[in-house]
Amino acid sequence: MKAFERKWWHSAVVYQIYPRSFMDANGDGIGDLAGIISKLDYLRQLGINLIWLSPVYRSPMDDNGYDISDYEDIAAEFGTMAEMEQLIEEAKARDIHILMDLVVNHTSDEHPWFLEALKGKDNPYRDFYIWRKPAPDGGPPNDFRSYFGGSGWAFDEASGEYYLHQFSVRQPDLNWENPRVQEEVHAMMNRWLDRGIGGFRMDVIDLIGKEVDKQIMAKGKNLHLLIHQMNRATYGARDKLTVGETWSATPEDALLYSDPERQELSMVFQFEHIKQTWDEKHGKWRSRPFELSRFKAVIDKWQTALADRGWNSLFWSNHDLPRAVSKFGDEGEYREASAKLLATALHCLKGTPYIYQGEEIGMTNVRWSTIEEYRDIESLNFYRERIAAGITHDEMMTGIHANGRDNARSPVQWDDSPHAGFTTGTPWMAVNPNYRSINVARALAEPDSILWHYQKLVALRKLYPVLVYGDYQMLFAEHPQVFAWLRRYEGDTLLVINNVSREHLTLDIPEPLQAWHGECLISNYAPRDQLAVSLELQPWESFALLIRE
Ligand code: GLC
Ligand code: CA
Repeated sequence: MKAFERKWWHSAVVYQIYPRSFMDANGDGIGDLAGIISKLDYLRQLGINLIWLSPVYRSPMDDNGYDISDYEDIAAEFGTMAEMEQLIEEAKARDIHILMDLVVNHTSDEHPWFLEALKGKDNPYRDFYIWRKPAPDGGPPNDFRSYFGGSGWAFDEASGEYYLHQFSVRQPDLNWENPRVQEEVHAMMNRWLDRGIGGFRMDVIDLIGKEVDKQIMAKGKNLHLLIHQMNRATYGARDKLTVGETWSATPEDALLYSDPERQELSMVFQFEHIKQTWDEKHGKWRSRPFELSRFKAVIDKWQTALADRGWNSLFWSNHDLPRAVSKFGDEGEYREASAKLLATALHCLKGTPYIYQGEEIGMTNVRWSTIEEYRDIESLNFYRERIAAGITHDEMMTGIHANGRDNARSPVQWDDSPHAGFTTGTPWMAVNPNYRSINVARALAEPDSILWHYQKLVALRKLYPVLVYGDYQMLFAEHPQVFAWLRRYEGDTLLVINNVSREHLTLDIPEPLQAWHGECLISNYAPRDQLAVSLELQPWESFALLIRE
């Protein structure tokens, strides 16, 4: 077997910015590039190496920028291309690289390619998109449903044909069977790489191989070939980080994507641990309580499957998901302890950690009572659709509170001034009312805050290769409240123990481990530097102990 090849992004930590909600520099209520630039010193202090920047391209903002009308211009509300270039440069001066969000499964309906395509069946851009004749009854060609509700087909009066949109009707799907689409996208990617970015986060990349007439959307037959070709034509020779968003990935798929020999991607985001909190039948709008045993089994499966080949991404939250501490921790009495536990778990597993903006201060979900306070197209569409189908307001709101995407999109809480210091104007979405106690200024001032806990973990990954390359072995697999594991690397052993509950627990330690002692690298209660016959664990206690030969 070939030796495991080391990459710079193995020890890197990524921080995700959702620009609309990060920092508003000009008071129009919408976060912007100048706002991000103003916070680069903060991010440098946190120690992160890359920023995954959710889309800032020109867009009518039907899906907050995931509907792009020009891949090589910046939305006016976010700034200018000159500011984008300044962001890349100023970040680089702080050893931070920018990952651009590559949204190429679809464009906006205002993209010039689509405007051309609408001009008629003979237009050279017609085949950039996916058109089908109506069914015999005049309805959509088949019953494929959009992920945002309703039919996945929209009718074009002028030509009498339907176009495919897996997301909103304003996000027509690109036709990846057309070589010209491939060439245009590759050329665009190369121009971004030439601007000096660190790589790409690839939006719903598992959908581009779609076999439309068979209604196979994820994992179509050409998917891996298309990604391999993209690698060869663009980033492959440039040593970049690429991460694909793949809701459909099994561990076997993740190996196909991330085995370096196959020349596809650095890693993928898989969502199996996230889906453990969704109802099996009704999906995300009916949430299922977090159950540690299921969660552990999923993490264990992925850590084991990608042990020697491929690479994992590690994340608890992003702009499409609820806040980590609200979902997996305890946002009440144990908010601080549980947020630190989640941070320790994230950084001590094997893979590249991703921190979502605000997670580093333990921001929580928002809970508004009327649908008018929500902004997300997904929540709004589903609310409308399901209320019409007879589901009650309360039931829908329960679903939105638990898993709606706006939980993660309320503005970052910088300080305790009005609107949390996010804007001097009126924010596009209200700030979480808890900003007076949960904010960055306060976290910076408190030496034992969640923020400094994150900062310490990011630094530890640079100091101790066992955190990056150590192999992984689960401990206490059957324990219903304890999530623990070992990492081993060249004579170093890292032991990580987490009490994922609000209970005081007595944990019996197996005989061979009882005498272990070493250096406590991180903890959220008093540091522990040795084991014993048993440990009395505090609620949400978490620590990592380094034992050196
Ligand atoms: C991805 C994005 C999400 C977006 C969707 C369509 O899932 O993360 O925010 O709505 O793709 O582009
Ligand atoms: Ca602004």
